[in-house]
Amino acid sequence: MKAIPMHEPIDRRQFLNRTATGAAGVAMTLAARAAENPEPERVVVGVMGLSRGRTLAINFAQQPGVEVRYVCDVDSTRAAKGAEEVAKVATAAPQPVGDFRQILDDPEVDALVCAAPNHWHGPATILGCSAGKHVYVEKPCCHNPREGELMVEAARKHNRVVQVGTQRRSSASIRAAIQALHDGEIGRVYSTRGTYTSLRGSIGTGKPVDVPEFLDYELWQGPAPRRPYMDNRVPYNWHWFWHWGNGELGNNGVHYLDICRWGLGVDYPIKVTSCGGRYCYDDDQETPDTHSVCFEFEDEKMATWQAHSCNQYGNEFVNFYGEGGTLVLGGEGEYTFYDKDNKEIRSDKGSRGDIEHIDNFLTAIREGNPALLNSGIEDHNPGTLLCHLGNIAQRTGRTLHCSPENGHIVNDPEAMDLWAREYEPGWEPTV
Ligand SMILES: NC(=O)c1ccc[n+]([C@@H]2O[C@H](COP(=O)([O-])OP(=O)(O)OC[C@H]3O[C@@H](n4cnc5c(N)ncnc54)[C@H](O)[C@@H]3O)[C@@H](O)[C@H]2O)c1
Repeated sequence: MKAIPMHEPIDRRQFLNRTATGAAGVAMTLAARAAENPEPERVVVGVMGLSRGRTLAINFAQQPGVEVRYVCDVDSTRAAKGAEEVAKVATAAPQPVGDFRQILDDPEVDALVCAAPNHWHGPATILGCSAGKHVYVEKPCCHNPREGELMVEAARKHNRVVQVGTQRRSSASIRAAIQALHDGEIGRVYSTRGTYTSLRGSIGTGKPVDVPEFLDYELWQGPAPRRPYMDNRVPYNWHWFWHWGNGELGNNGVHYLDICRWGLGVDYPIKVTSCGGRYCYDDDQETPDTHSVCFEFEDEKMATWQAHSCNQYGNEFVNFYGEGGTLVLGGEGEYTFYDKDNKEIRSDKGSRGDIEHIDNFLTAIREGNPALLNSGIEDHNPGTLLCHLGNIAQRTGRTLHCSPENGHIVNDPEAMDLWAREYEPGWEPTV
């Protein structure tokens, strides 16, 4: 593996330009690379958090030269099941473990894959980088804006490759469509809209109960200050509590807004507004089930994201509006360009980019070059920040004004209080 040189600031636009030419193009590139290099350098990984992480572990295990040595979950039933499933596709069975620090302690491990809940993303990535591991961390990259800043610092300080799991950044079709936007296919693009819909039910009212014997709840909580175990938070429903999750905006909205930001060619907003709430059920959920956020950027550009989490009519993914027409992108990477009269110009099928995103991470590790990443932490962090800002606007009930330099909220100390969180003593992330 090539040594990673001392960090050079990544020119985001430089690598935005390195787009493949279509879905078929990427499949051909991957096949050609495999033919050229039948025995790529070995990369040893450990995967933490085995729901989404089980799919990731299976996908990693099927890539040439990859050994998934550990699958880790604080739920021992999930760890055992994860190991069993990965063993079916891998050359060697992974070891199921309950504490991810065992992965960090193994000097032969090259990379940590973190698909634990959001409150773990920042702290685990920072610990991973300090232990000399490259990190593939799921979206949103962090639980709060301060963690995102610290993750960028940690990746720089330890010269690590840190990829965020916004996999559509590696979809060949989406890359081709965004490149066409940047090349002016529909003229100046000034507005974009993401639309999410789902049919989620109520999470009810939780009761305190004994922690199941198969779950290490202490380590599930990790960096988050301690809360009693309730019967309706774990797994998955933690997404709907600010203490661990970031609502639908941080859960699904981040995929949409990351692409909105990419297509518009913007980083930090100057104004953020939010409306919505918990409109559909009277239960424990704290985060909105019906939510609309709006971001204004310099140079007369805007993005909106609207979510109906309890009504699944009309899931559109992302549209871009330009002076010369419209781009309609689908969540599976398919897209259509229209002219100003709504006449179809052209369209293409696509992919979500899941495998390409892993391949891109492995390439950056093998080449020793974080700048090759399609969704490196430094480039991605402003995308997750849009979700945090939307949630802060929602929680304070106010319009936020932000610095176009770094997204910090100006003239609103109460809103800025939500920039960071309190930690369980001993778990404060430090770089
Ligand atoms: N990129 C994508 O398309 C995509 C899709 C789904 C989920 N995700 C992300 O994956 C993450 C996990 O979401 P989920 O839906 O799988 O949640 P989940 O609650 O169903 O699963 C999380 C798993 O992590 C485990 N876990 C918790 N703390 C751990 C620790 N310290 N060490 C090891 N394991 C630990 C839990 O026991 C659980 O099995 C979220 O951040 C989510 O946003 C990404």
